[in-house]
Amino acid sequence: MKNTVLTFKEAKKKGEKLTMLTAYDYSTAKLIDEAGVNSILVGDSLGNVILGYEDTISVTMEDMIHHGAAVARGAKDALVVIDMPFMSYQTSVYDAVVNAGRLMKEGRAGAVKLEGGAEVCPQIAAITAAGIPVCAHLGLTPQSINALGGFKVQGKSEEAAKKLIADAKAVQEAGAYAVVLECVPAKLAEIVTKELDIPTIGIGAGNVCDGQVLVYQDLLGMFSDFTPKFVKRFANVGEVMKEAFRNYCKEVQEGTFPGKEHEFKIADDVLEKLY
Ligand code: KIV
Repeated sequence: MKNTVLTFKEAKKKGEKLTMLTAYDYSTAKLIDEAGVNSILVGDSLGNVILGYEDTISVTMEDMIHHGAAVARGAKDALVVIDMPFMSYQTSVYDAVVNAGRLMKEGRAGAVKLEGGAEVCPQIAAITAAGIPVCAHLGLTPQSINALGGFKVQGKSEEAAKKLIADAKAVQEAGAYAVVLECVPAKLAEIVTKELDIPTIGIGAGNVCDGQVLVYQDLLGMFSDFTPKFVKRFANVGEVMKEAFRNYCKEVQEGTFPGKEHEFKIADDVLEKLY
């Protein structure tokens, strides 16, 4: 069944857990969609896991549209959410609406996600008013990594925790249909989840959130540059891939691949004329 923002609303009401995974290409999106995941996030984490950057700062609108459109072609039932990259919405409300519109028109997103609290509420309100669903993102917001001073758990002091709760209420009030909570203490995520009418989607925020999201390469063991504490490895696909690549090299070098079964034939009478 097709997932929409209404699916998110209903799930929160019924207390049903929501699932979200990242994807950045057609084939992976198809697999995730066929597995029945509610939502696919074309995260700007593509800067790290696809493009090999140290952070998400260099990711462009063109990157997000290019990968978003590929994911949208592969996702039949999952709600496709495309991240708004750094400086595509912080600069002005006008830029935010124009760029969110591009992610919908050119990337074929079902919703967009942006990072920040009260300071981006005018953007959330304007994008929502344009008929584009917005998922908010609080806690560790990787686009602000230079201001946060590194990848650290957020909301640990009384002041920071109160601000996070206030920001969560503000993004809900501005019209966000859901909010991602990244790297916040589980007990704080629990308070936010209870206080909000919109679903919370946790990543490093404990299991009381209304849903969970992970970067698929982390879940599959395909990315080894760094592994945050909150990641659970559900398979070791990285090792399976390396073993397959090694076997391919071995068989090519030994001359056992390609085999007869992989060859194309030519008629004997044609072949005779070639000598
Ligand atoms: O970019 C991303 O993948 C994200 C998730 C980590 C929530 O924002």
